[in-house]
Amino acid sequence: MIDFTLTDEQKQLRELARKFAQREIAPLAAELDREQRFSQAIVDRYFETGLLHSHVPEEYGGAGLTSLEGCLVAEELAAACGGVASYLGANNLGLTPFMIAGSPELKEELLTRHCEGPNLAAFCLTEAEAGSDVASMRSTARRVGDENIINGTKQFITNGGVASLYSFFASENLGLGHKGISCFMVPAKTPGISHGKKEDKMGQRAADTREVCFTEVHVPARYRLGKGMDGFKIAMQTLDESRAGVAAAAVGIARAALEAAIAYSKERKQFGQPIAANQAIQFMLADMATKVEAARLLVWQAAHLHDQGLRNSKESAMAKCFAADTAMQVTTDAVQIFGGYGYMKDYPLEKYMRDAKLHQIYEGTNQIQRLVIAGQLLR
Ligand code: CAA
Repeated sequence: MIDFTLTDEQKQLRELARKFAQREIAPLAAELDREQRFSQAIVDRYFETGLLHSHVPEEYGGAGLTSLEGCLVAEELAAACGGVASYLGANNLGLTPFMIAGSPELKEELLTRHCEGPNLAAFCLTEAEAGSDVASMRSTARRVGDENIINGTKQFITNGGVASLYSFFASENLGLGHKGISCFMVPAKTPGISHGKKEDKMGQRAADTREVCFTEVHVPARYRLGKGMDGFKIAMQTLDESRAGVAAAAVGIARAALEAAIAYSKERKQFGQPIAANQAIQFMLADMATKVEAARLLVWQAAHLHDQGLRNSKESAMAKCFAADTAMQVTTDAVQIFGGYGYMKDYPLEKYMRDAKLHQIYEGTNQIQRLVIAGQLLR
């Protein structure tokens, strides 16, 4: 039996996220974008809703949401602002390796403390010369006594300068390629950590995106996740999980652009009638709405599989790829429906388009998603 009906609790959760996003985020979205400003106040208020550490189990102080529930929330946040949704969501991304491979003792020590306040985490995987090709990373970790000493620079890290906890990937043996990589949880106040300048981005400008540099950072051996040298698989499993959420955010941006385009096409009059009376506009709206709903169904499928404990590499890659392409196309078409006004910063349309673009690039480019899909098809 296939059932797309949300439970009453899930509908209430979505309503809570929608109200928060429309009251606390949407009114600030243009200003944060213009000033490229990260707002800790939004994190503080979001923490008060109980949703900030949404994917962390309740026993460690999180909201204990399922992947599907996290996607419902992500869509609402991104419909208000893609940049804010990205930095709130990146907290869960940074914590996911911990949830996958952290020991109960380490979770008790680091995760519980993190979840006690409006803290953000960051996922430090990408390097200047290791973007799509994760296995070629050059960050290193060497064991000395009961510590690991980490060196390396990570690039384009969401929450890079504002996180209080990093999941940091480094190789314990560069000669072993992906089989040498480990994942470490590292509190941001550990000596030896510095940040580059805030990146001046095309879109999602509210998010604090920076280089994170580790120089001789001493990390207790117990802060290494899993058995060690299994960091590549931890990273891939993390991305399998997080791509559904990122796809949900892309759906949120696309939905916001579609809703704006529908409202505008009913108001805007040309040649004596609303432009919505023209079939050319109706067909565009019909295609936009169909793609938004198809993308959402892919997101829910990927999340549902994860919630069943099943591997969802193919489905989460499909959801991420299709939702990001949908967001780009729908926001571009929405700008077109707004005509000249769509191109102006007085309206949110051009921001939707800029914010959507990053969805085709981060959490694995859409080309990488197609590689993952094909890899699973041809196994
Ligand atoms: N789950 C478990 N294991 C997996 C896996 C998965 N999803 N994917 C791969 N593996 C395993 C493979 O089975 C293989 O195992 P063995 O060694 O036992 O054979 C091993 O990992 C290596 O796999 P591949 O040979 O497929 O690895 P690859 O080097 O060819 O790379 C890739 C595969 C898909 C291209 C991968 O590197 C990738 O996903 N790249 C994109 C990186 C990415 O998404 N970066 C995003 C950064 S985060 C970000 O953007 C967030 C932000 O700040 C907003």
